[in-house]
Amino acid sequence: MRTELTAGLLAAQASTSPKFLYDALGSKLFEAICELPEYYPTRTEAAIFDTHLYDMARAIGKGSTLIDLGAGNCAKAARMFPLLQPLQYVPVDISVDFLRSAVDGLRQQFPQIRMTGIGMDFSAEMALPAAVRRDKRLFFYPGSSIGNFTPEAAADMLDRMRAACQGDGGLLIGVDLVKDKAVLDAAYDDGLGVTAAFNLNLLRHLNALLGADFDVRDWRHVAFYNEAASRIEMHLEARSDVTVRWTDGERRFGRGERIHTENSYKYTRQGFLQLLERAGFGAIRTWTDEKGWFLVCHARAM
Ligand code: AVJ
Repeated sequence: MRTELTAGLLAAQASTSPKFLYDALGSKLFEAICELPEYYPTRTEAAIFDTHLYDMARAIGKGSTLIDLGAGNCAKAARMFPLLQPLQYVPVDISVDFLRSAVDGLRQQFPQIRMTGIGMDFSAEMALPAAVRRDKRLFFYPGSSIGNFTPEAAADMLDRMRAACQGDGGLLIGVDLVKDKAVLDAAYDDGLGVTAAFNLNLLRHLNALLGADFDVRDWRHVAFYNEAASRIEMHLEARSDVTVRWTDGERRFGRGERIHTENSYKYTRQGFLQLLERAGFGAIRTWTDEKGWFLVCHARAM
């Protein structure tokens, strides 16, 4: 992690991977984002799941090995347990302590489901331990987290999921769709400043990980929809000239200079279906909301 972070901070255009947004406080701030009126994805996706849960469950079938990527508080998967009746639930998250307390709670509620929590960064490789059942794997990747990857990297990720399925596997994935810029801008720069706090908290996490001396007061949250690239960009912008030091490095940032902290790609339905097919998924079914803001897809590994 240190090598990766240092390289990103020292690059001409400084950047950090969005996975570093999720320390314990970052995970809580993201939960708070999901409550914001401006942040439509969580609510819209939840409504799609609520409306079409029976239909989805019929497409998926019972007794799967439910692998929940970026499970967080595990709430989305838990809502599907009664209908899906998975044989094993495998929540995976980089924020280990947050995940552990969520899974402990779930074990009490659903004693009949075998639960195997995994603290892992799955963005690089899909290294699932032997304790994860091989048959009927269903990768569950909701919330449009796939949007954090460039389309090329997303295709690779999807391909790794497909490769980890053995014929009878599949994918249930949520993806945010292209829409009006004003709606997108507001969703990532809310009036209350929760997204700003979420973004700025990254600096506190870097302080802990690198022994750095970032002062959050020196930085400003910047987020906007880049229409040409079809993505939200989040940045942290230096309010004045600052020099940041960490255990084995330092960097000077001029006033207005930015650290690129996240991309959140938005897809058209067509574009995303092409991506799924490129990665070897087929028999695709899709569900959306009446505004056509968000898309849920089920696809089979071919
Ligand atoms: C968790 C990656 C889906 O991109 O919408 C929310 C993260 N960043 N507000 C998203 C996020 C700023 C979120 N994902």
